[in-house]
Amino acid sequence: MKTGVKKLRVGMLGCGVVGSEVARLLITNQEDLAARSGAGLEMVKIAVRDLSVNRPGIDPGLFTSDTESVVNDPNIDLVIEVMGGIEPAYSLILKAMANGKAVVTANKALLAKKGAELFHASDEADVDFYYEAAVAGAIPILRPLAESLVGDRVQRVMGIINGTTNYILTKMHEDGATFENALKEAQALGFAEADPTADVESFDAAAKAAILAGLAFHTQVTDDDVYREGITKVSADDVAVAKDMGFVIKLLAIAEANDVHGSNEETITVRVHPTMIPKNHPLAAVRESFNAVFVQCESAGELMFYGRGAGGTPTASAILGDLVAVARNRIEGSLGPTETDYADLDIAPMGVTKTRYLIRLEVLDIPGVLAAVATTFAKNDVSILTVRQDGRGADAELIVLTHIASENSLASTVKQLEQLDSVKDVLSVIRVEGLPS
Ligand code: HSE
Repeated sequence: MKTGVKKLRVGMLGCGVVGSEVARLLITNQEDLAARSGAGLEMVKIAVRDLSVNRPGIDPGLFTSDTESVVNDPNIDLVIEVMGGIEPAYSLILKAMANGKAVVTANKALLAKKGAELFHASDEADVDFYYEAAVAGAIPILRPLAESLVGDRVQRVMGIINGTTNYILTKMHEDGATFENALKEAQALGFAEADPTADVESFDAAAKAAILAGLAFHTQVTDDDVYREGITKVSADDVAVAKDMGFVIKLLAIAEANDVHGSNEETITVRVHPTMIPKNHPLAAVRESFNAVFVQCESAGELMFYGRGAGGTPTASAILGDLVAVARNRIEGSLGPTETDYADLDIAPMGVTKTRYLIRLEVLDIPGVLAAVATTFAKNDVSILTVRQDGRGADAELIVLTHIASENSLASTVKQLEQLDSVKDVLSVIRVEGLPS
């Protein structure tokens, strides 16, 4: 049923790199957006922290420092939240919803902490809540999971969902750069923040992983449920060994049903960590700051979604897509699909996750070392797939690639290896995905 709405008024919270592109594109493309939505979309108010900043191309009369005036304005129909952070964004979105406004956000940190509360609030208020831009920027991945693939069973989602770390790892792989030098280059080019912690320690990717996992498995997942490791310990030697063995190291977010490896337990695991994948895996071709999400479904099989995961115009594209969708719904007098967390699956501890591992050991080059190392793996029920030894004078480097084993078994193996007299150092342990089972 069409409601006869001729114009929808839009308010925005925040106007940084993404928000200013949203405002600019709303004006530049207003005729097309109106034709596609079924009503004009007019930006009427933008709340910003600092009114003195010059924002070219945007009518200065739109700006206010009063955030409440956006969410409480009875003339505003749709609110875009691009201020980021938990508060005041959370309270402002709740108020906007309670006041009957549809909300579009790009705020992954907030969704990963308060997703369930926000979905509940939008249900209660009978308003749309869309957030495609929160994960992987321009890439349409959330609505495909929530709508296109909702008739299928997702088995696993593996994603490169942080552009900064992908840029750093690409430079390490292709140019032999150290982590520190690659990070400096990323900072100079504006990919990495001055304080890169959120990216390099995987907080950003963990928040996005929680959102992806929740949608894929119809379960409430927060960032606290995500096992997280950053890329700061990945060394140039790790990258060189990976390359030599036909692998690429990527920071992967992985959400999977635990029956992927043969168990029928109804649990999922969600993890983000540096991962070796074969160089011919589709995700290995995702270079520099690009993102990609690889989805395995029971019926659809394998799918990959690729594109720009950050930046003003790419993220604005996703926000405007959501804006048109919520505008269409409002004109129809309908609502988009709501979240489903009916499956309510348990999130298994990392210890039960099963994968393969590549372990680099610095050992004494003396008789019996290989036997002692192999026995330690065997005692812990970790089966070895390949072993390579590189001599280095009196010492040697042993590179062990395992078959699939649990995290618990691997952890006890590593602990016992560290206690062997012949093992001088466990140089690194990197998980391996994407090999045929
Ligand atoms: N800092 C993020 C990245 C973009 O490097 O991908 C925002 O989520």
